[in-house]
Amino acid sequence: MSEHHHHHHHGEALGVALIVVSDRAADGRRPDKCEPALRAFLETRGQALARVMVVPDEIPDIQRAIRELADKERFDLILSAGGTGVAPRDVTPEATRPLIERETPGLPEAMRAASMAVTPYAMLSRGLAGFRGASLIINLPGSPKAAVENLAAVFDAVAHGVGKAKGDPTDCAPIPARKKEEPR
Ligand code: MTE
Repeated sequence: MSEHHHHHHHGEALGVALIVVSDRAADGRRPDKCEPALRAFLETRGQALARVMVVPDEIPDIQRAIRELADKERFDLILSAGGTGVAPRDVTPEATRPLIERETPGLPEAMRAASMAVTPYAMLSRGLAGFRGASLIINLPGSPKAAVENLAAVFDAVAHGVGKAKGDPTDCAPIPARKKEEPR
């Protein structure tokens, strides 16, 4: 609508929160780079990152963060970054699954499909997405580059879906064809 550089039609500001899931970021061994990367991406879409939590790769910690951000703080969009792979400590999907009330499998399907053009390792990301109440939770992979690539692949639909989840009754007018990219 009023966005200058981009073509998406949702000018509405979303409440966006991020859960960085990383043992090393949580105990201070490594500075988290997902927050600045995702913040910069969101800014290109006219969105701000309002809240960031950093937790270790532990199911109770991840679930506590999701419950806080969804049930208490009622964010529209709750992103997690990290712990989606197949390493022994990767448990983000296991933490997320029981808290999702309505799964949106098309989002991870689209994220993995788009990411397969970047790296075949994308098929190893086990991230989930779905609604808890009106909060949309999306598991992103943990490298800053991968997190941004995955979110970029679905962001237009995410903005639309969040509006729908809040009860927007208007028709699902299709997003206008992108000008700078090949149609997918
Ligand atoms: N998706 C994109 N778009 N770009 C990437 O570089 N890396 C993959 C994958 N998805 C990647 C990607 C790799 S190497 C892994 S191991 C998985 O995401 C899981 O990452 P995580 O365990 O950090 O969540």
